[in-house]
Parts: sequence; C-alpha cells; structure tokens
Amino acid sequence: MTPMNTPEFVRHPQLIAWVEKIAQLTKPAKIEWCDGSQEEYQRLIDLMIANGTMQKLNEEKHPGSYLANSDPSDVARVEDRTFICSQDKEDAGATNNWVAPSEMREKLNGLFDGCMAGRTMYVVPFSMGPLGSHIAHIGIELTDSPYVAVSMSKMARMGKAVYDILGTDGEFVPCVHSVGAPLKDGEKDVAWPCNSDKYIVHYPETREIWSFGSGYGGNALLGKKCFALRIASKMGHEQGWMAEHMLILGVTNPKGEKHYIAAAFPSACGKTNFAMLIPPAGYEGWKIETVGDDIAWIKPGEDGRLYAINPEAGFFGVAPGTNTVTNSNCMSTLYKDVIYTNVAVTDNGEVWWEGLSKTAPENVTNWKGERHTGEEKAAHPNARFTVSAAQCPSIDPEWENPNGVPISAFIFGGRRADTVPLVSEAFDWVDGVYKAATMGSETTAAATGQQGVVRRDPFAMLPFVGYNMADYFAHWLALGETVGAKAEQAGNKLPKIFNVNWFRRDEQGNFVWPGFGQNTRVLEWMIDRIEGRGNAVETPIGLVPEYEDLNWTGSDFSKAGFEKVTSQDKDLWVKELESHTELFDKLGERLPKVLRERQKQLIDAVKAS
Ligand code: GTP
Ligand code: SPV
Ligand code: MN
Repeated sequence: MTPMNTPEFVRHPQLIAWVEKIAQLTKPAKIEWCDGSQEEYQRLIDLMIANGTMQKLNEEKHPGSYLANSDPSDVARVEDRTFICSQDKEDAGATNNWVAPSEMREKLNGLFDGCMAGRTMYVVPFSMGPLGSHIAHIGIELTDSPYVAVSMSKMARMGKAVYDILGTDGEFVPCVHSVGAPLKDGEKDVAWPCNSDKYIVHYPETREIWSFGSGYGGNALLGKKCFALRIASKMGHEQGWMAEHMLILGVTNPKGEKHYIAAAFPSACGKTNFAMLIPPAGYEGWKIETVGDDIAWIKPGEDGRLYAINPEAGFFGVAPGTNTVTNSNCMSTLYKDVIYTNVAVTDNGEVWWEGLSKTAPENVTNWKGERHTGEEKAAHPNARFTVSAAQCPSIDPEWENPNGVPISAFIFGGRRADTVPLVSEAFDWVDGVYKAATMGSETTAAATGQQGVVRRDPFAMLPFVGYNMADYFAHWLALGETVGAKAEQAGNKLPKIFNVNWFRRDEQGNFVWPGFGQNTRVLEWMIDRIEGRGNAVETPIGLVPEYEDLNWTGSDFSKAGFEKVTSQDKDLWVKELESHTELFDKLGERLPKVLRERQKQLIDAVKAS
C-alpha cells in the first residue's frame, strides 16, 4: 500500500479517508500533499524539466517562465467525452452527455484501477473564490500530473491555508484526475502522458468530479469548468445563485461613475480581451479594470442587486491573436512567472504565436517540437498562458472583495459573420433571457471537433451547464422575478441585458469592426443607457444605437462601416428566429413556455417590419 504520510496541517478525517481510498484504487507509487509553497512549486517545475515536460524560457525576456508542449492529441476540451451523470437522465437534459451513475462508476472503477502506478499522486487543496468568502467553495484535486498541480497553484488559491478553512469537518468537492498512463517498473515516462480514451465525469448529486485521460486545460484543471461551472451551476440552481461563463469588468467614466459589467462570450470569443480593454485615444479619463476573465459566481443581495466574484485566481488565456496592440494589459501581465502551453519558441528561448507579430522570427520551433516552415501554424490555435491574475496591471481594486461587486449589466455575444448586429439592448429581462438562451456562435479551437460552424450556445454555457438546460433557463427567469421584486423595493434596478457581435465579416471574409479597444465605444453607449441618458431606436429585435449615438472621437471608422456591422436583414432574421425551434424542440417539455411565446412575438414583429 502507498504510505499516506499525512502532514499535521491536514486535520480532516473524512478527507484523509477519501485520499486513502483513492490511493488504494489508483495505486500511485507515492502521495504528495501540496502546501502551495514556492519551494514546492519550483521542485515540481524542476522535475518536469528533467522529465522533458517543460522547458525553461529565456530568463531575461521571460523571467520565471516555462513552456510545456502537450501531446498533439490532447490540446483542448473534449465535449463529446464530458458527462453529467445525474440519477435521472432528464436532470442532465438534452444538451449534456449522460450515462447512468452506476454504469459510469463501474466503468471508471475499471479505468482508475492502478492508473497512477509508477506516478506520484498530488493532493491539491484549493479555494474557488477569496479564502473564507461566503461566496467561495473548496475543492481537493487528486492528480497524477505535476503540470496540473503547478497550474492549479496559479488558477486557484491553492495551499495549506485551505486546510485551516476546512478544519476537521468542512465541506469540499472531491476531484479525481489521472492522465491515465500508468508506468511499469522502470518504464521511462513520456513528456506529456495522456490516454486516447477520455472521460470527464460529473456526479451532480454527490458533487464529485472524475477526469481520466487528458492533462489539458478544462479537462484537467478541475477547479475551472468542472467545478466552477458544471458543479457550481447545479449548486446555484439549488441555492438561488448563478455560476456563469462570464468575464467581469469595472468601467469608470470621466465623471467618476463606475459600473461593473459581466459578459458571456463562448470559448475563444473575446472574454479575456474585453476584460482587459484599454480605452482608445480620445477616451482620456476613462478607466477599465478587470475583476475576472472567464467565470463569475453571482449572488443576489438583500438590496436586489446581483453581486459577482471571480472564483479564479489566474488566467488560462488564449495566446494566438494576443499582442501589445490588441491586448497590451495582457502582454504586461505576462512579464514574468508564466506557464505557456503549446506556443512556439525561438532558439533563443522566446515565445511566439500567430498574431504576436506580423511575421514569425527566425529559427522558430513549433508547438509540436518541429522546425517552423510557415506551412503549418507555429502555435496551436488553442495555445494558452497560465498566469496569476494579481500580475494584471488593470486588475480591479475590488477583485478580491469577498462580497463581490454589484453588476449593472449583462452582455451576451457570439461569433457571427452575419445576421447579428454590433450591439442591441433587450427590451426587458425576459427578452434578454430569450436572446441569451438562443445565442448562436461559430465553434472555435477551444474544444475539439469541427470549427467555424454556427451552433446554439445558450448563455455561452452549452458545454458548462451541469444540469438540464431548460431548468437553467427557468432559473434565470425566476431570478429575474425574485431579484427584480427585491430591487424595486430597494429602489434598485435589475441589470440591463445587451447583445454584441464583434465578428461581422465583409464579402472578402474580413472582420468589419476593428474590435478590441474600439469596443469601448459600445461600452460607453451601454453606460449611457444604464444611466438613462443614451439614445436608442427601437427595432423588432431590440433597441439599437444610431451612428450619432456612439462617440467616434479619435476614430476613423466610417458611417458605411457602421451600417455594415449594424444592418438587420429581414430574411436572415426570420430564418435565424425560426432556427431557434430546433433548440426548443430538443429541450422539450421542461422549456419555459414564455420562451416559445417570445419567439413567436419576435418572428411576427420582424415579418411586420
Ligand atoms: P476562453 O478562454 O476560451 O473562454 O476565451 P475568451 O472568450 O477569453 O477569448 P479571448 O479573449 O482569449 O479571445 C479569443 C480570440 O479572439 C483571440 O485570438 C483574440 O485575439 C480574438 N478576439 C478577442 N476580442 C476580439 C475582438 O474584439 N475582435 C476580433 N476580431 N477578435 C477578437
Ligand atoms: C474555455 O474553453 O472556455 C476555456 C479554456 O476557458 S478551458 O479551461 O480549457 O476550458
Ligand atoms: Mn472559457
């Protein structure tokens, strides 16, 4: 049996018994209880350098930073291998993969039996949310991947202090992770162990996560999508709060008015960039600050306002496309102590990815470890950086406020080459929920599978809702009523809901809207609308600004361009709205009736226009 060597800072008998049970099943050579210390971090990094998993980057250009290249088969989330194993299939709903829990447990018992042989099992304690916050929750991840252990120390509050909060009987979400590549006696390891058979499994009723076969991103860093979205969304449904795939930013105008805004865009559709926006020339006196770039946990306050925290402590962000022009705050965040995955590297130990500069420097090795010739991409399209959020120059002073920040508006936006205009405001909460629920977006490299095809991605949560999507819609509608009533009593308002699309294309396939910092112009209009002073015209699909309603100071974007990104084509819109029936039919009986009614009203209104 593996020696437990439990350290004295762990005083939770049930936790210790669980670790022992998992060790008996997975049979690691060794157990290491992570304490989150710098010494531990460096030791694991050095171990991975010795194993060939990581390489040290140029110390002058990238102090304290490292590069890992994954196996070419293990590069993104695997949605078709992700399961919600509720007792009742209906509770997982039509948009999730489901297997009966008894059947899945049997399957996983077989797969996990001896799966950590020859490896170390790391016990990784973490808090999602500021330590001790009433909104935070604790998880323990058991993993045989040192890459996951060090990544978790950046992405969550990881370490010994978590055990102080847990005490002898605190609640935690048990997360079991294995790369699924046991080592025989004396067998040499590979640089990126993984298994072609992958299972990302959630048991929502018992709040357990089991992940097998992948070492990458959301498949393996279990605090992120598995816990903070799938398990947490289910907890929120039971307890009256929300776990959302949203960035949170604070925007302050020259008058000193500050609003916090939460925005849901699907994976690789611009959250990190929007969260770190730098206002363009002409916006002197404006400030945009970052609370989070991927996930928001949102709780109703007694005053009828919604308060959000970022449960994470780091950014696991898309590298390609990031540069000092598109996202200078992000580039500054990366000044030290970064773990890069699947980017390219020069002979001089400097990182490179498509879009970092116009052309690749000389002597680049691509993410597969081959000489870059220009024929293939140097960095994988889903190449990412892992970095502590505290390093971000635009980090908001309230980002670790345990009570969260009050939200003034929600934004929803996908990648749409046509149909959807630059920005529109929903008529009311129900209309906003309808639009979020029926949002479409082109698929990206963040998940394996075909790319660039439009699919419905409700609330940017298609891969992340841990229960029935129809019940999730109902939850949003119900919160609108209960929170709305409280807000009215207290003289507050429900957040406004907006839709955006930064990704309209012209006939040549180029993006028409310049995006990035220029998105500030849209943000300003939203603030004006929130403050009750911005002009909007009513169209069948929402309230929209006219050209004159946006501030164009310092911009050379033409009125013709504006018309291109805001035009509404009647035929395309009828088709778009009618296509929502497919999602509604799929969701079936549990779909809130009001959404079908709203669809009919919208179709009638567009046809009559
Ligand atoms: P996840 O981490 O997968 O959830 O992604 P994300 O939503 O945080 O997306 P991110 O901000 O990392 O952007 C993904 C890609 O879209 C990058 O290549 C960006 O350069 C690009 N992008 C972001 N914002 C804009 C924009 O306003 N316009 C255009 N054209 N591209 C953008
Ligand atoms: C996403 O896909 O939305 C991500 C990356 O944020 S991952 O953590 O891999 O899910
Ligand atoms: Mn994401």
